[in-house]
Amino acid sequence: MSTAAPRVETESDSDDALRLPTVFDEPSTGVGIEIRHARLSDVPTIATLLEEYARRGFVLPRTLGQLYRHIREFLVAVEDGEVVACVSLRIYNPVLAEVGALAVAARCQGRKVGRHLVEELIEEARAFGIRRVFALTLQEPFFHRLGFRTVPLDEIPEKVAADRDEGIDRAACMKATVVRDLDD
Ligand SMILES: CC(C)(COP(=O)(O)OP(=O)(O)OC[C@H]1O[C@@H](n2cnc3c(N)ncnc32)[C@H](O)[C@@H]1OP(=O)(O)O)[C@@H](O)C(=O)NCCC(=O)NCCS
Repeated sequence: MSTAAPRVETESDSDDALRLPTVFDEPSTGVGIEIRHARLSDVPTIATLLEEYARRGFVLPRTLGQLYRHIREFLVAVEDGEVVACVSLRIYNPVLAEVGALAVAARCQGRKVGRHLVEELIEEARAFGIRRVFALTLQEPFFHRLGFRTVPLDEIPEKVAADRDEGIDRAACMKATVVRDLDD
């Protein structure tokens, strides 16, 4: 039996391993908005946030069960203790990941919450060694502002294969495919 003492994680260890949470000052009010990893207790609010936009075709609908199973993929933005935005990072292979489930509460839109959330997610992707992130979106101009460019979906064969596995037919899909290569 090993007699080695268990390693005790210090505060600085965890700071090194995890950049989050971070806080940015929202431009119009100067009030700090926190970006952190999602918690199980955030799931009902994330579900409500996504529901409205899913009805309008901006994001895919997600059940509570799906959100609980994938909660570790999510970052959230929190204002005054309330989750006001979410986004997820789905990893396809060691170098490719998808930005999904992006939703900012209507009252917070246009206040850089979406930008900060996606930028934090990209930092996390970089830390994993991801070289390219992509999204399927009706919000091409937003992603272009964040340095993404539009490509044909065929340029992401991993997504085409995943759609096939999940029985998703994009023949009538209006969404654009946008990618950002993460240069060093
Ligand atoms: C799209 C969405 C995530 C943007 O979030 P947001 O917090 O309102 O956007 P931000 O304030 O961070 O905007 C960031 C930049 O994008 C630009 N931008 C945002 N939405 C835009 C739009 N619809 N058209 C053009 N530019 C847009 C902003 O002007 C800003 O530019 P700048 O930072 O260079 O000045 C948000 O409007 C939303 O949740 N929409 C409904 C759900 C949805 O469409 N989700 C995307 C699924 S892929």
